[in-house]
Amino acid sequence: MIYDNQQISLTKEHWFAACSVEDAVINGGVCVKHGNEQIALFYFTRRNEWYATQNLCPHKKQMALSRGMLGSKNEEPKVACPFHKKTFSLVTGQCLSGDECDIKTYPVKVENGTVFIKVDTKEP
Ligand code: FES
Repeated sequence: MIYDNQQISLTKEHWFAACSVEDAVINGGVCVKHGNEQIALFYFTRRNEWYATQNLCPHKKQMALSRGMLGSKNEEPKVACPFHKKTFSLVTGQCLSGDECDIKTYPVKVENGTVFIKVDTKEP
């Protein structure tokens, strides 16, 4: 038997209050900080839907996706990075521009006028 004495960390899911609905940008995004993470939160008003992704665009490592433009491709909601217009699915995070640089997405819910984002937290 091989024993690995590396510290084992557990991952725990956690909903945190990101902002109030009134703070959100209509058909646009805001940047929400959670610890060291920057999360782009989108209120896609035309579809009455909320999405959250990493704020970092993987193309040139710019913290920019919260300032991206929302749209749809074949009914799939997407965001276009403001720098070089690479687009990403807001549902799966897949890069829709043909590159292999997907982004992370997060579940979002709204309760009593507050927007919550679900993240993973590591526990020692
Ligand atoms: S930095 Fe986002 S597309 Fe280039």
